[in-house]
Amino acid sequence: MKLAILTSGGDSAGMNAVVRAVVKAGILKGCETWVVREGYEGLVRGNTEALAEQSLDEAPVDLSDISASTDRNSNNLIHNLRFGDGDLLKDGTGDHPGTRSLKGRYIVRVGFDDVRGWFAEGGTLIGTARSKTFRTQEGRLQAAYNMIKEGIDALVVCGGDGSLTGADVFRSEWPKLVEALHAEGRITAEKASLHAHLKIVGLVGSIDNDMSMTDLTIGAPTALHRICEAIDNINSTASSHSRAFVLEVMGRHCGWLALLAGVSGGADFIFLPERPPTSDSWENEMCECIHRHREVGKRKTIVIVAEGATDRDLKPIKAEYVKDVLTDRLGLDTRVTTLGHTQRGGRPCAYDRVLPTMQGIEAVDALLEATHNDPSYMIGIQENKIIRVPLMEAVAMTRAVSEAIEAKDFEKAMSYRDPEFKE
Ligand code: F6P
Repeated sequence: MKLAILTSGGDSAGMNAVVRAVVKAGILKGCETWVVREGYEGLVRGNTEALAEQSLDEAPVDLSDISASTDRNSNNLIHNLRFGDGDLLKDGTGDHPGTRSLKGRYIVRVGFDDVRGWFAEGGTLIGTARSKTFRTQEGRLQAAYNMIKEGIDALVVCGGDGSLTGADVFRSEWPKLVEALHAEGRITAEKASLHAHLKIVGLVGSIDNDMSMTDLTIGAPTALHRICEAIDNINSTASSHSRAFVLEVMGRHCGWLALLAGVSGGADFIFLPERPPTSDSWENEMCECIHRHREVGKRKTIVIVAEGATDRDLKPIKAEYVKDVLTDRLGLDTRVTTLGHTQRGGRPCAYDRVLPTMQGIEAVDALLEATHNDPSYMIGIQENKIIRVPLMEAVAMTRAVSEAIEAKDFEKAMSYRDPEFKE
Protein backbone atom coordinates (compact mmCIF):
# COMPACT_ATOMS: atom_id res chain seq x y z
CA MET A 1 0.00 0.00 0.00
CA LYS A 2 1.21 3.52 -0.79
CA LEU A 3 -0.01 5.67 2.00
CA ALA A 4 -0.12 9.47 2.34
CA ILE A 5 -1.00 11.59 5.34
CA LEU A 6 -2.10 15.20 5.53
CA THR A 7 -3.19 17.57 8.29
CA SER A 8 -6.04 19.94 7.58
CA GLY A 9 -8.04 22.78 9.14
CA GLY A 10 -6.95 24.43 12.39
CA ASP A 11 -3.77 22.89 13.78
CA SER A 12 -3.70 21.15 17.12
CA ALA A 13 -0.96 19.83 19.38
CA GLY A 14 -0.37 16.16 18.63
CA MET A 15 -0.74 16.39 14.85
CA ASN A 16 3.00 15.74 14.40
CA ALA A 17 2.73 12.72 16.64
CA VAL A 18 -0.01 11.44 14.33
CA VAL A 19 2.21 11.90 11.28
CA ARG A 20 5.06 10.16 13.04
CA ALA A 21 2.91 7.22 14.13
CA VAL A 22 1.33 6.75 10.71
CA VAL A 23 4.68 6.95 8.91
CA LYS A 24 6.44 4.59 11.31
CA ALA A 25 3.57 2.10 11.59
CA GLY A 26 3.07 2.26 7.81
CA ILE A 27 6.70 1.42 7.10
CA LEU A 28 6.79 -1.34 9.72
CA LYS A 29 3.72 -2.89 8.11
CA GLY A 30 5.23 -2.81 4.64
CA CYS A 31 3.77 0.42 3.19
CA GLU A 32 5.42 3.23 1.27
CA THR A 33 4.76 6.47 3.15
CA TRP A 34 4.24 10.03 1.98
CA VAL A 35 3.36 13.33 3.60
CA VAL A 36 1.24 15.96 1.89
CA ARG A 37 2.26 19.51 2.79
CA GLU A 38 -0.32 22.26 3.34
CA GLY A 39 -3.33 19.96 3.72
CA TYR A 40 -5.68 19.46 0.77
CA GLU A 41 -4.07 22.44 -0.93
CA GLY A 42 -0.89 20.35 -1.27
CA LEU A 43 -2.84 17.48 -2.82
CA VAL A 44 -4.19 19.88 -5.44
CA ARG A 45 -0.79 21.43 -6.11
CA GLY A 46 1.04 18.10 -6.23
CA ASN A 47 4.60 18.02 -7.42
CA THR A 48 4.47 20.15 -10.53
CA GLU A 49 6.86 23.02 -10.06
CA ALA A 50 5.14 25.20 -12.67
CA LEU A 51 1.78 24.78 -10.99
CA ALA A 52 3.20 25.62 -7.57
CA GLU A 53 4.96 28.73 -8.81
CA GLN A 54 2.03 29.95 -10.83
CA SER A 55 -0.46 29.55 -8.03
CA LEU A 56 1.67 31.34 -5.47
CA ASP A 57 0.46 34.60 -7.03
CA GLU A 58 -3.19 33.69 -6.87
CA ALA A 59 -2.88 31.60 -3.77
CA PRO A 60 -6.19 31.19 -1.94
CA VAL A 61 -4.11 30.79 1.19
CA ASP A 62 -1.08 32.81 2.12
CA LEU A 63 1.92 30.68 1.27
CA SER A 64 4.41 33.50 0.76
CA ASP A 65 6.45 32.48 3.78
CA ILE A 66 6.81 29.03 2.29
CA SER A 67 8.34 30.26 -0.96
CA ALA A 68 10.76 32.37 1.03
CA SER A 69 11.99 29.46 3.11
CA THR A 70 12.22 27.09 0.13
CA ASP A 71 14.21 29.64 -1.84
CA ARG A 72 16.83 29.75 0.85
CA ASN A 73 17.24 26.02 0.45
CA SER A 74 18.80 26.00 3.87
CA ASN A 75 18.29 24.12 7.08
CA ASN A 76 15.25 26.28 7.60
CA LEU A 77 13.05 24.17 5.32
CA ILE A 78 9.33 24.61 5.12
CA HIS A 79 7.93 24.57 8.61
CA ASN A 80 11.21 22.97 9.68
CA LEU A 81 10.35 19.77 7.88
CA ARG A 82 13.54 17.91 8.50
CA PHE A 83 14.74 14.99 6.50
CA GLY A 84 17.19 12.49 7.79
CA ASP A 85 18.29 9.39 5.97
CA GLY A 86 14.81 8.47 4.80
CA ASP A 87 13.70 7.46 1.35
CA LEU A 88 13.71 11.01 0.10
CA LEU A 89 17.47 11.04 0.28
CA LYS A 90 17.67 7.82 -1.67
CA ASP A 91 15.65 9.54 -4.42
CA GLY A 92 18.66 11.75 -4.86
CA THR A 93 16.53 14.87 -4.61
CA GLY A 94 18.43 16.47 -1.76
CA ASP A 95 21.97 17.72 -1.44
CA HIS A 96 22.54 16.27 2.00
CA PRO A 97 20.31 15.72 5.01
CA GLY A 98 18.56 18.87 6.14
CA THR A 99 19.34 20.95 3.08
CA ARG A 100 16.97 19.79 0.40
CA SER A 101 14.60 22.09 -1.33
CA LEU A 102 10.93 21.24 -1.42
CA LYS A 103 10.03 24.00 -3.81
CA GLY A 104 7.07 22.95 -5.90
CA ARG A 105 6.83 19.63 -4.08
CA TYR A 106 3.80 19.08 -1.94
CA ILE A 107 3.61 15.30 -1.90
CA VAL A 108 6.83 14.05 -0.36
CA ARG A 109 8.01 10.50 0.18
CA VAL A 110 9.30 10.10 3.72
CA GLY A 111 11.22 7.49 5.62
CA PHE A 112 11.45 6.37 9.22
CA ASP A 113 14.03 8.96 10.23
CA ASP A 114 12.24 11.88 8.64
CA VAL A 115 9.75 11.94 11.48
CA ARG A 116 12.15 11.28 14.32
CA GLY A 117 11.24 13.24 17.45
CA TRP A 118 8.06 14.64 15.95
CA PHE A 119 5.97 13.53 18.95
CA ALA A 120 7.26 16.53 20.92
CA GLU A 121 6.70 19.27 18.31
CA GLY A 122 3.81 21.71 18.42
CA GLY A 123 1.52 22.65 15.52
CA THR A 124 1.87 20.66 12.33
CA LEU A 125 5.28 20.48 10.68
CA ILE A 126 3.81 19.46 7.32
CA GLY A 127 1.59 22.51 7.32
CA THR A 128 -2.14 22.95 7.11
CA ALA A 129 -4.41 25.17 5.07
CA ARG A 130 -8.07 25.79 4.45
CA SER A 131 -8.11 24.98 0.74
CA LYS A 132 -10.72 26.63 -1.44
CA THR A 133 -9.60 24.77 -4.55
CA PHE A 134 -10.17 21.34 -3.01
CA ARG A 135 -13.79 22.35 -2.43
CA THR A 136 -14.28 22.46 -6.22
CA GLN A 137 -14.61 19.32 -8.30
CA GLU A 138 -11.85 20.59 -10.57
CA GLY A 139 -9.54 20.84 -7.57
CA ARG A 140 -10.41 17.33 -6.45
CA LEU A 141 -9.79 16.03 -9.99
CA GLN A 142 -6.31 17.55 -9.91
CA ALA A 143 -5.76 16.12 -6.42
CA ALA A 144 -6.73 12.63 -7.63
CA TYR A 145 -4.38 13.00 -10.59
CA ASN A 146 -1.49 14.05 -8.37
CA MET A 147 -2.03 11.10 -6.06
CA ILE A 148 -2.29 8.59 -8.89
CA LYS A 149 0.85 10.03 -10.48
CA GLU A 150 2.74 9.14 -7.30
CA GLY A 151 0.95 5.79 -7.06
CA ILE A 152 -0.75 6.64 -3.75
CA ASP A 153 -3.83 4.55 -2.98
CA ALA A 154 -4.56 5.34 0.68
CA LEU A 155 -4.98 8.60 2.53
CA VAL A 156 -4.99 9.48 6.23
CA VAL A 157 -6.56 12.84 7.04
CA CYS A 158 -6.10 14.46 10.45
CA GLY A 159 -8.42 17.41 11.03
CA GLY A 160 -11.81 18.54 12.28
CA ASP A 161 -15.29 17.70 11.01
CA GLY A 162 -14.99 19.87 7.86
CA SER A 163 -11.72 18.21 6.88
CA LEU A 164 -13.11 14.74 7.49
CA THR A 165 -16.21 15.51 5.44
CA GLY A 166 -13.88 16.59 2.62
CA ALA A 167 -12.14 13.23 2.89
CA ASP A 168 -15.37 11.30 2.60
CA VAL A 169 -16.57 13.37 -0.37
CA PHE A 170 -13.24 12.72 -2.08
CA ARG A 171 -13.50 9.00 -1.49
CA SER A 172 -17.09 8.68 -2.71
CA GLU A 173 -16.30 10.75 -5.80
CA TRP A 174 -13.06 8.91 -6.49
CA PRO A 175 -14.31 6.36 -9.10
CA LYS A 176 -15.84 9.22 -11.12
CA LEU A 177 -12.64 11.24 -10.87
CA VAL A 178 -10.56 8.29 -12.07
CA GLU A 179 -12.97 7.75 -14.96
CA ALA A 180 -12.73 11.41 -15.94
CA LEU A 181 -8.92 11.37 -15.79
CA HIS A 182 -8.88 8.33 -18.05
CA ALA A 183 -11.42 9.87 -20.44
CA GLU A 184 -9.26 13.00 -20.65
CA GLY A 185 -6.26 10.81 -21.50
CA ARG A 186 -4.35 11.90 -18.40
CA ILE A 187 -3.99 8.38 -17.02
CA THR A 188 -3.78 5.01 -18.77
CA ALA A 189 -6.47 2.32 -18.54
CA GLU A 190 -4.05 0.26 -16.50
CA LYS A 191 -3.59 3.06 -13.95
CA ALA A 192 -7.34 3.68 -13.89
CA SER A 193 -8.04 0.07 -13.00
CA LEU A 194 -5.17 -0.06 -10.49
CA HIS A 195 -6.53 3.04 -8.74
CA ALA A 196 -10.24 2.27 -9.05
CA HIS A 197 -10.75 2.81 -5.31
CA LEU A 198 -9.31 5.07 -2.66
CA LYS A 199 -8.91 4.07 0.96
CA ILE A 200 -9.40 6.81 3.50
CA VAL A 201 -9.28 7.03 7.25
CA GLY A 202 -9.84 10.07 9.48
CA LEU A 203 -8.22 11.09 12.76
CA VAL A 204 -9.64 13.95 14.73
CA GLY A 205 -7.32 16.85 15.40
CA SER A 206 -9.21 19.60 17.20
CA ILE A 207 -8.49 21.48 20.41
CA ASP A 208 -12.22 21.99 21.02
CA ASN A 209 -12.99 18.29 21.64
CA ASP A 210 -16.04 18.87 19.49
CA MET A 211 -16.35 15.59 17.58
CA SER A 212 -19.13 13.18 18.43
CA MET A 213 -18.60 9.43 18.87
CA THR A 214 -15.17 9.90 20.40
CA ASP A 215 -14.38 10.88 23.97
CA LEU A 216 -11.32 12.95 23.18
CA THR A 217 -9.85 14.69 20.15
CA ILE A 218 -6.13 15.17 19.49
CA GLY A 219 -4.98 18.52 20.91
CA ALA A 220 -7.79 18.99 23.41
CA PRO A 221 -5.81 17.77 26.47
CA THR A 222 -2.93 20.16 25.67
CA ALA A 223 -5.26 23.12 25.19
CA LEU A 224 -6.99 22.31 28.47
CA HIS A 225 -3.64 22.10 30.21
CA ARG A 226 -2.65 25.46 28.73
CA ILE A 227 -5.86 27.11 30.02
CA CYS A 228 -5.44 25.48 33.39
CA GLU A 229 -1.93 26.93 33.73
CA ALA A 230 -3.22 30.35 32.68
CA ILE A 231 -5.92 30.22 35.36
CA ASP A 232 -3.29 29.25 37.96
CA ASN A 233 -1.29 32.32 36.97
CA ILE A 234 -4.32 34.58 37.00
CA ASN A 235 -5.50 33.19 40.34
CA SER A 236 -2.47 34.50 42.18
CA THR A 237 -2.64 38.03 40.79
CA ALA A 238 -6.45 38.09 41.12
CA SER A 239 -6.17 37.06 44.77
CA SER A 240 -3.50 39.66 45.47
CA HIS A 241 -5.76 42.49 44.27
CA SER A 242 -9.04 40.82 45.16
CA ARG A 243 -9.99 41.21 41.52
CA ALA A 244 -12.33 39.51 39.11
CA PHE A 245 -11.11 38.07 35.79
CA VAL A 246 -13.17 37.12 32.78
CA LEU A 247 -11.36 34.58 30.62
CA GLU A 248 -12.38 33.89 27.06
CA VAL A 249 -11.40 30.43 25.88
CA MET A 250 -11.81 28.70 22.51
CA GLY A 251 -14.79 26.57 21.58
CA ARG A 252 -17.23 27.68 18.92
CA HIS A 253 -19.94 25.08 19.37
CA CYS A 254 -18.42 23.08 22.14
CA GLY A 255 -17.96 24.08 25.77
CA TRP A 256 -15.67 21.20 26.73
CA LEU A 257 -12.60 23.40 27.20
CA ALA A 258 -14.53 26.03 29.16
CA LEU A 259 -16.26 23.48 31.38
CA LEU A 260 -13.22 21.40 32.24
CA ALA A 261 -10.99 24.44 32.64
CA GLY A 262 -13.58 25.87 35.01
CA VAL A 263 -13.65 22.72 37.09
CA SER A 264 -9.87 22.31 37.14
CA GLY A 265 -9.18 26.00 37.82
CA GLY A 266 -11.88 26.69 40.40
CA ALA A 267 -14.00 29.11 38.33
CA ASP A 268 -17.03 30.84 39.83
CA PHE A 269 -19.20 30.91 36.72
CA ILE A 270 -18.90 29.34 33.25
CA PHE A 271 -20.68 30.15 29.98
CA LEU A 272 -21.07 27.28 27.49
CA PRO A 273 -22.56 27.23 23.98
CA GLU A 274 -24.61 24.06 24.55
CA ARG A 275 -26.06 25.12 27.86
CA PRO A 276 -26.84 28.80 28.20
CA PRO A 277 -27.96 30.04 31.64
CA THR A 278 -31.53 28.96 32.35
CA SER A 279 -32.83 32.00 34.20
CA ASP A 280 -34.40 35.01 32.46
CA SER A 281 -31.51 37.19 33.47
CA TRP A 282 -28.11 35.47 33.38
CA GLU A 283 -26.68 38.75 34.71
CA ASN A 284 -28.68 38.32 37.95
CA GLU A 285 -27.88 34.62 38.14
CA MET A 286 -24.14 35.25 37.74
CA CYS A 287 -24.06 38.18 40.18
CA GLU A 288 -25.98 36.29 42.87
CA CYS A 289 -23.63 33.35 42.56
CA ILE A 290 -20.48 35.48 42.71
CA HIS A 291 -21.88 37.58 45.53
CA ARG A 292 -22.41 34.38 47.56
CA HIS A 293 -18.83 33.30 46.88
CA ARG A 294 -17.51 36.68 47.99
CA GLU A 295 -19.70 36.56 51.10
CA VAL A 296 -18.06 33.34 52.22
CA GLY A 297 -14.66 34.96 51.88
CA LYS A 298 -13.38 34.41 48.32
CA ARG A 299 -10.84 37.09 47.41
CA LYS A 300 -10.88 36.45 43.67
CA THR A 301 -13.43 35.75 41.00
CA ILE A 302 -12.92 33.79 37.79
CA VAL A 303 -15.58 33.71 35.06
CA ILE A 304 -14.95 31.60 31.96
CA VAL A 305 -16.65 32.37 28.67
CA ALA A 306 -16.42 29.94 25.77
CA GLU A 307 -15.99 31.91 22.55
CA GLY A 308 -19.27 30.52 21.18
CA ALA A 309 -21.32 31.12 24.35
CA THR A 310 -24.70 32.79 23.93
CA ASP A 311 -27.84 33.40 25.96
CA ARG A 312 -31.01 31.40 25.28
CA ASP A 313 -31.87 33.75 22.41
CA LEU A 314 -28.51 33.09 20.81
CA LYS A 315 -27.23 36.55 21.64
CA PRO A 316 -23.45 36.21 22.09
CA ILE A 317 -22.17 36.60 25.63
CA LYS A 318 -19.06 38.71 25.28
CA ALA A 319 -16.27 38.85 27.86
CA GLU A 320 -16.22 42.67 27.82
CA TYR A 321 -19.92 42.83 28.62
CA VAL A 322 -19.51 40.29 31.46
CA LYS A 323 -16.73 42.50 32.82
CA ASP A 324 -19.05 45.55 32.74
CA VAL A 325 -21.74 43.63 34.61
CA LEU A 326 -19.28 42.56 37.33
CA THR A 327 -17.91 46.08 37.63
CA ASP A 328 -21.23 47.91 37.63
CA ARG A 329 -23.36 45.55 39.70
CA LEU A 330 -20.85 44.09 42.14
CA GLY A 331 -18.28 46.86 42.17
CA LEU A 332 -15.52 44.38 41.35
CA ASP A 333 -12.26 45.55 39.87
CA THR A 334 -12.44 43.36 36.76
CA ARG A 335 -10.04 42.48 33.93
CA VAL A 336 -10.53 40.49 30.72
CA THR A 337 -8.01 37.93 29.45
CA THR A 338 -8.47 36.35 26.03
CA LEU A 339 -6.24 33.31 25.79
CA GLY A 340 -6.57 32.99 21.99
CA HIS A 341 -4.07 30.91 20.09
CA THR A 342 -1.81 30.26 23.09
CA GLN A 343 -4.30 27.45 23.68
CA ARG A 344 -3.59 25.91 20.30
CA GLY A 345 0.16 26.22 19.87
CA GLY A 346 3.13 24.76 21.69
CA ARG A 347 4.37 21.35 22.68
CA PRO A 348 1.82 18.59 23.16
CA CYS A 349 1.29 17.28 26.67
CA ALA A 350 2.02 13.59 27.28
CA TYR A 351 -1.50 12.43 26.49
CA ASP A 352 -1.43 14.30 23.17
CA ARG A 353 1.54 12.11 22.26
CA VAL A 354 0.05 8.85 23.50
CA LEU A 355 -3.39 9.28 21.91
CA PRO A 356 -2.11 10.14 18.39
CA THR A 357 0.43 7.32 18.58
CA MET A 358 -2.20 4.71 19.41
CA GLN A 359 -4.67 6.17 16.92
CA GLY A 360 -2.06 6.49 14.16
CA ILE A 361 -1.22 2.79 14.44
CA GLU A 362 -4.92 1.92 14.37
CA ALA A 363 -5.39 4.14 11.28
CA VAL A 364 -2.78 2.13 9.36
CA ASP A 365 -4.43 -1.15 10.43
CA ALA A 366 -7.83 0.19 9.37
CA LEU A 367 -6.47 1.03 5.93
CA LEU A 368 -4.75 -2.31 5.52
CA GLU A 369 -7.96 -4.13 6.46
CA ALA A 370 -10.34 -1.85 4.50
CA THR A 371 -12.54 -3.30 1.77
CA HIS A 372 -14.31 -1.26 -0.91
CA ASN A 373 -17.68 -1.91 0.72
CA ASP A 374 -16.66 -0.57 4.12
CA PRO A 375 -17.56 2.99 5.01
CA SER A 376 -14.65 5.38 5.63
CA TYR A 377 -13.65 5.07 9.25
CA MET A 378 -12.75 7.65 11.84
CA ILE A 379 -10.44 6.55 14.62
CA GLY A 380 -11.67 7.60 18.05
CA ILE A 381 -11.40 6.64 21.68
CA GLN A 382 -14.30 5.46 23.84
CA GLU A 383 -14.00 4.37 27.44
CA ASN A 384 -10.23 4.26 27.08
CA LYS A 385 -10.28 1.98 24.05
CA ILE A 386 -9.16 2.98 20.58
CA ILE A 387 -12.10 2.41 18.24
CA ARG A 388 -13.19 2.77 14.62
CA VAL A 389 -16.51 4.44 13.87
CA PRO A 390 -18.12 5.25 10.51
CA LEU A 391 -16.70 8.66 9.74
CA MET A 392 -19.86 10.20 8.31
CA GLU A 393 -21.97 9.06 11.28
CA ALA A 394 -19.63 10.91 13.62
CA VAL A 395 -19.64 14.00 11.39
CA ALA A 396 -23.46 13.92 11.14
CA MET A 397 -23.84 13.70 14.92
CA THR A 398 -21.36 16.53 15.39
CA ARG A 399 -23.32 18.69 12.97
CA ALA A 400 -26.56 17.77 14.76
CA VAL A 401 -25.21 19.38 17.96
CA SER A 402 -24.52 22.68 16.18
CA GLU A 403 -27.90 22.52 14.44
CA ALA A 404 -29.69 21.90 17.74
CA ILE A 405 -27.89 24.91 19.25
CA GLU A 406 -28.86 27.05 16.25
CA ALA A 407 -32.48 25.89 16.69
CA LYS A 408 -32.26 26.83 20.40
CA ASP A 409 -32.95 23.22 21.32
CA PHE A 410 -30.29 23.09 24.02
CA GLU A 411 -31.63 19.94 25.64
CA LYS A 412 -31.24 18.11 22.37
CA ALA A 413 -27.73 19.53 21.95
CA MET A 414 -26.82 18.28 25.42
CA SER A 415 -28.38 14.87 24.76
CA TYR A 416 -26.03 14.44 21.79
CA ARG A 417 -23.11 15.34 24.02
CA ASP A 418 -24.26 13.09 26.84
CA PRO A 419 -27.18 10.66 26.24
CA GLU A 420 -27.78 10.46 29.99
CA PHE A 421 -27.99 14.23 30.45
CA LYS A 422 -31.01 15.61 32.36
CA GLU A 423 -31.71 19.31 32.93
O1 F6P B 1 -9.88 24.58 16.05
C1 F6P B 1 -11.06 25.22 16.43
C2 F6P B 1 -10.76 26.57 16.91
O2 F6P B 1 -9.81 26.43 17.89
C3 F6P B 1 -11.97 27.33 17.42
O3 F6P B 1 -12.23 27.19 18.77
C4 F6P B 1 -11.66 28.74 17.01
O4 F6P B 1 -12.81 29.47 16.77
C5 F6P B 1 -10.91 28.55 15.75
O5 F6P B 1 -10.21 27.35 15.89
C6 F6P B 1 -10.02 29.68 15.36
O6 F6P B 1 -9.31 29.26 14.24
P1 F6P B 1 -8.48 30.20 13.27
O7 F6P B 1 -7.88 31.26 14.08
O8 F6P B 1 -7.48 29.29 12.65
O9 F6P B 1 -9.46 30.71 12.27
